[in-house]
Amino acid sequence: MTKTLSVPVGLGERAYEVRIGQGLLDQAGAALIDLLPRKRVFIISDETVYGLHGARLERALAQAGVTCSRLVLPPGEETKSFAELERVIDALLAHGLERSDLILAFGGGVIGDLAGFAAAIYKRGIGFIQMPTTLLAQVDSSVGGKTAIDTPRGKNMVGAFHQPRRVLADVDLLATLSSRELRAGFAEVLKYGLLGDRAFFAALENRGADVLAGDPEALSWAVAKSVAMKADIVAEDEFETGRRALLNLGHTFGHALEAETGFGGALLHGEGVGAGMALAFRFSAQLGLCSGEEAARAVAAIAAAGLPTRLTEVRPLAFSADALLHHMALDKKAEAGGVTLILAKAIGEAVIVKNVAKTDLLTFLKQEGAV
Ligand code: NAD
Ligand code: GLY
Repeated sequence: MTKTLSVPVGLGERAYEVRIGQGLLDQAGAALIDLLPRKRVFIISDETVYGLHGARLERALAQAGVTCSRLVLPPGEETKSFAELERVIDALLAHGLERSDLILAFGGGVIGDLAGFAAAIYKRGIGFIQMPTTLLAQVDSSVGGKTAIDTPRGKNMVGAFHQPRRVLADVDLLATLSSRELRAGFAEVLKYGLLGDRAFFAALENRGADVLAGDPEALSWAVAKSVAMKADIVAEDEFETGRRALLNLGHTFGHALEAETGFGGALLHGEGVGAGMALAFRFSAQLGLCSGEEAARAVAAIAAAGLPTRLTEVRPLAFSADALLHHMALDKKAEAGGVTLILAKAIGEAVIVKNVAKTDLLTFLKQEGAV
């Protein structure tokens, strides 16, 4: 059993701890009881996660004298919707949750984002705990307080900043995750190295295979390093007025690919981020911002993780360059109609570039195979 690691998120009176390690699920009751004045918690999960791990969670809570109610939702991005949010709020009201009670989000980024948003608005805000069960959720979505649902007009378009009260990331839970989902989460791990930590990136070039093989020690290390980096950025810029935008490396390209492939199983979020980071590095090289060698090294690491790095790997039929650009211009980072991108001067040195010329982007996307 690896040692449990603890990463603080330094946000003053909203500070919290992220615990990372093995066996945390079976200790959940003891690990959370100090946060629960009424010794009860409301669990929100999805059918896949709850079918696999729900009974153990309930047993662990019961061992500490914590009672629970639950709402188990269908898995998948479609669950981040107004309809499911209404179901969640109705269930919270039906179970009489008071403002001192806590929600426990037990699942991947979909459940964390939805449950966190419900917590942000229920009775004007109650507390919530994150128990992330995907690699992506452990290294990214469970930390930092971004919560949201999607609308037919766009992903994550309705949401709130609402920090969790604690995060328990049990890497043993990742053993039941498909290797495709694990690789998608690994894209976000690579992101931290690529955006701001060259040494971490180099270490991932060596240890990435162990992480992807599910080695618990390597997983704990990669999750803790990633969370520590995210915590540092969030503590400095909680509401994304500046540096936090760097966490979106690859996301503007990636979201455009996700939008064009329908936000379904065709392209997972992390796969879109992988391809998006490859595009961001190649575009940076094209603009003369970073060297071709740096871009090639970044792309090689993304490809080595089995992630797409080319438009043709995402969809064999060509994307429309205009359609991709349209999605990129709708990004939440966009200001005054201009496209803002996170690009890179080098591995470990991402930068925010505002008002990227649309003609440059169109030329680049066509070079990459869009029509
Ligand atoms: P997800 O929650 O849909 O989980 C992926 C799939 O894995 C689901 O089918 C789920 O049922 C299954 N699953 C989860 N844990 C499992 C386990 N331990 N074993 C077996 N199966 C398991 O997807 P995700 O990749 O975790 O999250 C993607 C979402 O996160 C997107 O909606 C994205 O917008 C959001 N996100 C949010 C932030 C943020 O800062 N809030 C950051 C990144 C991504
Ligand atoms: N996932 C990007 C952020 O939390 O800011």
